[in-house]
Amino acid sequence: MRLDQFIATSSLLSRKEARRAIHAGNVEVDGEVWKDTGKHLPAGAQVVLEGVPLSLPGERYLMLNKPTGVVSATRDSEHPTALDLLPPELTRNLHIAGRLDADTTGLLLLTTDGQWSHRITSPRVECPKTYRVSLSTPLAESAIKELETGLMLHNDPKPTKPAQVRILEQKLVELTISEGRYHQVKRMLAAVGSHVEALHRQSIGSITLDPKLEPGDYRELTEQEIASVG
Ligand code: URA
Repeated sequence: MRLDQFIATSSLLSRKEARRAIHAGNVEVDGEVWKDTGKHLPAGAQVVLEGVPLSLPGERYLMLNKPTGVVSATRDSEHPTALDLLPPELTRNLHIAGRLDADTTGLLLLTTDGQWSHRITSPRVECPKTYRVSLSTPLAESAIKELETGLMLHNDPKPTKPAQVRILEQKLVELTISEGRYHQVKRMLAAVGSHVEALHRQSIGSITLDPKLEPGDYRELTEQEIASVG
């Protein structure tokens, strides 16, 4: 890789600013000042910019506690997006692994790693997602059975896959589904005659929303959390 390209990729400098820094003698490669912006770096070279060692960024993996009113998109002309809640230097090439509706809160995963997010979102993988669902009315025994067995959704050709239902309070349930159809939880509850008043995602696979994160806060995933997907 060219020296100016390496600096622009691994620091906050643009390519032009990187060239200026190189010409100004502010860049050392393996202990020597390099002033040739286009010179190719040897493998494993140690590049230091103004005394700070640089390294190429790896993939990024973040969890965000999505507040209500924020859209799961990287860009939107009208509403704040999940990416607006992150420092700009973290957002480059980031995408969302499993969207939430604007009025749904909770666990949102964002990454630069397309293969990793595919293992979360691919229908073939059947990655379980757990939601805490506030309902307008308590669920009847028959409704719980239907959710657990699988039911038809309006305009969908196939029944839903069996879901797990845990009753927490009369009008508060935990629902685990292994699909990601459009508005799936809301439509499943509507299909059994109830209505979702509030929806919060608690976990995706074995990654659980960190209780220390306030709405709008984010943190990087741990190595263990990253490795747990797949
Ligand atoms: N199901 C929904 O209906 N909405 C969401 O945001 C997520 C799952």
